[in-house]
Amino acid sequence: MAQDLLLPEFIYPRLQSQRLGKTIHHFLETGSTNDAARQLAEQGAAEGTLVLGEEQTQGRGRLGRSWLSERGAGIYASILLRPVLKPRDAAVLTLVAAVAGSEAIEQACDLRTDIKWPNDLLLRGRKCCGILSEMQADRDDIRYVIVGIGINVNHSAFPAELGECATSLRIEGKQTYSRVALLCELLRRFELLYDDWQRGSLARVLQAWVDRSSFAFGKHVTVDLGRGKKLEGHTAGLSELGNLKVKLADGRVEEVLSGDIVAWR
Ligand code: BTN
Repeated sequence: MAQDLLLPEFIYPRLQSQRLGKTIHHFLETGSTNDAARQLAEQGAAEGTLVLGEEQTQGRGRLGRSWLSERGAGIYASILLRPVLKPRDAAVLTLVAAVAGSEAIEQACDLRTDIKWPNDLLLRGRKCCGILSEMQADRDDIRYVIVGIGINVNHSAFPAELGECATSLRIEGKQTYSRVALLCELLRRFELLYDDWQRGSLARVLQAWVDRSSFAFGKHVTVDLGRGKKLEGHTAGLSELGNLKVKLADGRVEEVLSGDIVAWR
């Protein structure tokens, strides 16, 4: 699928977003597209600058994990954003990215993903897309956010150590997909939702997330909060900042700002 390289000349003719992806930096190989995007951000690159890698040698995931980035098989993309917002509002951006990813996969590949809080996209309970947002902020203002998105598109298999946790669109849909088409749809959806959110339509973004997630309400979850702390209970929706509300056995409702759902039923 030589034509499906994520080269700017293949993307620009199909691009429907106005700002996201207007400037593209494409690497055949890079350490992490998030790191490359951060360098560009520090040099003053504009909002919407997009960094793409055909392969990452040090792809990073959330919570210090690595991200498998097989050459030419997935989408490894980082988008530079400069939202005019307070740092505490940035968590919602992660949900925006998850909804955009879920909508794009449905539109371009006809596969309906579930969103595991905060932003893992699942098919049959296995992860096909992850998002790593990294922010630089002063005390009161966001300087920029790098939203890194990894989608397992045309992977045919995963190493044994990932076991039952990972899947790809190809494995689930039993066909290969155009990464260019999926990426362009992702940028279009992302920009629409991002603009909605920046204009203050936060409730619409949160509702879109809830509509696409079986984790939003009534799911029994164990959340790893880090530093050896865990929390168990039933999910009870999102707070207005995008935190996950969990109802504990004693009836108290806790809001989780960051963490990892490690078990659910
Ligand atoms: C996760 O679910 O743990 C987040 C995975 C994020 C992976 C993407 S791939 C593009 C960008 N560059 C990285 O090094 N990580 C993100």
